Amino acid sequence: MAEREASKTAIGVAMLRAVHQLWDGPPKILDDPVVMSLLSAELQDRIRAGTTGFLEPRSIALRAHVLLRSRYAEERLEQAVARGVTQLVVLGAGFDTFAHRQPPWARAINIFEVDHPASQRLKRERLATAAIPVPPNVIYAPVDFEHDTLTGGLARVGFDPHRKTFVSCLGVLVYLTGEAIAELFAFIASLPPRSECVFTFGGARGLDEPGKPSLATAAAAVGEPWQSSMEIDDVIAALARAGLPEPVLPTPAEIHSYLGNRTDGLGPPKRNRIASVVVGAK
Ligand SMILES: C[S@@+](CC[C@H](N)C(=O)[O-])C[C@H]1O[C@@H](n2cnc3c(N)ncnc32)[C@H](O)[C@@H]1O
Repeated sequence: MAEREASKTAIGVAMLRAVHQLWDGPPKILDDPVVMSLLSAELQDRIRAGTTGFLEPRSIALRAHVLLRSRYAEERLEQAVARGVTQLVVLGAGFDTFAHRQPPWARAINIFEVDHPASQRLKRERLATAAIPVPPNVIYAPVDFEHDTLTGGLARVGFDPHRKTFVSCLGVLVYLTGEAIAELFAFIASLPPRSECVFTFGGARGLDEPGKPSLATAAAAVGEPWQSSMEIDDVIAALARAGLPEPVLPTPAEIHSYLGNRTDGLGPPKRNRIASVVVGAK
């Protein structure tokens, strides 16, 4: 990512969530009345006009994955809060809006939004322009994972490493080097038992087809080249190196409960790219 530019891929996935609100059928996989307001007026117009190519099969597949990962993470978070988690860290938060549509059960937790300073700056500008208030339990931590330490960035804004924590890391690992991922997993491993991290993985480069660049090529073209590629065996090995247990994956029944039997074309992804690890689990 260019030094001072906000993440375009963050805007891209926010656009997919905004499209979902307007163009996909009920029930919403992710009910997000906030995300549209964070986009530029031009992009909002394109979404309303239906000119974002949202009916293309690849757009539908990516939208299903992006919606599923947020829904899954938010449901795991609710369960984690019920067992005593009091801090949420949203890594590479982008235009994630959970903080702005938080249900009553989330109001007692502290929400730390961690992102590249340029991305976080743009989000905060867009929130201010849209007159969306920042809830009192939201704390911003500007951190560039490749140059700053996550631990240091969080400590500067009052994160308590001794409290049970839930970490959401969606659509981020592919942008990090192996070294930064190892540091991230070491941070997770240092958290109290029953802390949890939900994350997405992947990154194997799909083949470019004529006129249809792969996701990796598209990300590189906007200045955000993928830095790593992990299949599930690589994930298990990297977690083990950090002293973490094997991950839990969403079950086919869970995926079906969100994405089965729909009439708008959204359906279960061909390959699962979402995982969760619970500190100290057997
Ligand atoms: C594809 S977006 C995902 C955003 C959000 N998690 C979501 O699902 O909507 C990738 C995010 O990772 C962040 N990111 C990428 N590289 C980063 C780095 N080196 N340090 C901090 N954040 C980074 C970007 O700023 C961006 O917000």
